[in-house]
Amino acid sequence: MSDFETVGKVSDFVEGRGQAFAVDGRMVAVFRRGEEFFAIDDLCPHMGASLAEGHVDDDTVTCPWHAWRFCIKDGTWEDNPRTKVDVFEVRVVGDEVQVRAKD
Ligand code: FES
Repeated sequence: MSDFETVGKVSDFVEGRGQAFAVDGRMVAVFRRGEEFFAIDDLCPHMGASLAEGHVDDDTVTCPWHAWRFCIKDGTWEDNPRTKVDVFEVRVVGDEVQVRAKD
């Protein structure tokens, strides 16, 4: 099982704005909603834009390039729910936000 990696402190994250981090060689987009954190693959499956740069509205991030929309909780492409991007486990330990790498 993969380890968790610290990507920042809770106070580093602002609701409504994603941030991208390298976690064990993968770029991961991390989002804050209230006191909850979510992490999905940062790479848009369409043409590779950074989803962390997208506009966030409730549980949806909209890709900054061509507006494909993804659920930040489960990675579903909202226009075609049969397609998903990877979701990463996130936890908060003390004031650190940690993401678990994929095996
Ligand atoms: S690169 Fe994301 S929608 Fe085109």
